Amino acid sequence: MKSYDAFRPILAIESSCDETAAAILRSPGIILTSLIASQAEEHARFGGVVPEVASRNHLLAIDPLVRRALEEAKLSPQDLGAVVATSGPGLAPALLVGASYAKGFALALDLPYLALNHLEGHLLSPFLGEEKIPHHIALLVSGGHTQLTEVRAASDYTVLGRTLDDAAGEAFDKVAKLLGLGYPGGIEIDRLAATGDPAKYPFPKALMERGERENLDFSFSGLKTSVRYFLEKNPHLAKSTDGMADLCASVRHAIVDVLIQKTARAVESSGLNEVAISGGVSANKALREGLRELCQTKGWKLHLPAPELSTDNAAMIAFAAIHHLKAGESSPIGQEISPQWGVGR
Ligand code: KG4
Ligand code: ZN
Repeated sequence: MKSYDAFRPILAIESSCDETAAAILRSPGIILTSLIASQAEEHARFGGVVPEVASRNHLLAIDPLVRRALEEAKLSPQDLGAVVATSGPGLAPALLVGASYAKGFALALDLPYLALNHLEGHLLSPFLGEEKIPHHIALLVSGGHTQLTEVRAASDYTVLGRTLDDAAGEAFDKVAKLLGLGYPGGIEIDRLAATGDPAKYPFPKALMERGERENLDFSFSGLKTSVRYFLEKNPHLAKSTDGMADLCASVRHAIVDVLIQKTARAVESSGLNEVAISGGVSANKALREGLRELCQTKGWKLHLPAPELSTDNAAMIAFAAIHHLKAGESSPIGQEISPQWGVGR
């Protein structure tokens, strides 16, 4: 197998959940193309992602998507320097499609193959295009994960706290389902919350007590249960526009306030002064605004991913991969997928 040639662009493939994505990136972080084929509509009628449906749709989408990516970048497969695929965490039948395609591609062209961690892709996404990853505290909030991490440099991560049950995005999606909104519901709650009163219904915020050692873990499953009981007692609220706006604003506040306060505690106890957020929930307006205000008050530098890099995409996978490839790493062609793969010590 050829070794990685840093002068050639790399192809990255992402298929860990319900988006098939392909991107071509030139080192250190120039996106030549980044394409996403979303299957969200296919899953909406089931109210969540169905792994086998995801797998079949990835299979249909992946080859045309990669061909289109090469066309848009005006490249032929022979121009590439490496092929990367998300290998976990994620849905096994979905991961298998992207990883197998990428390995076949690398094998046929005798290119280095790299299995990349999806969470690492999110973690580094706010720095896409920048030469250096600063020492900072990162809040990663997606549909599957909620994690506070100290990032010292690319590949050097310590987990400070994580969710003990539902992820923040999952909490948004589950409450949205209770409210009769479509899937994925986070974005809908965010939209409807715009005209609501966040203080109207004080939903519970778990694990907020301050101890000797700051508790930086999260728990969101109680919120969903509390909203369910509340709706059973007050079914009329979800039927009126104003009631719905107040409910959405209150739920959004309950989730976002915990995320902001815990991020503030993590930064304070680390003594650092740079913060980054990433993952699908980082598109949330209240979270972005709240963190902006916090960082302004404290004099911290805030790093946000571009909106199109917040939710799942392959450009972030390519960018994170560059750091590994430059360090001389690659994966064997027989590398298995890792559906439970975590990131950080
Ligand atoms: O990172 P992502 O695309 O996929 C995973 O790796 O999970 O995140 C998807 C999650 C979903 O739960 C979705 O509801 C949530 O991100 N999300 C939002 C918003 N946009 C997407 N949650 C709250 N507010 C938003 N604006
Ligand atoms: Zn993701």
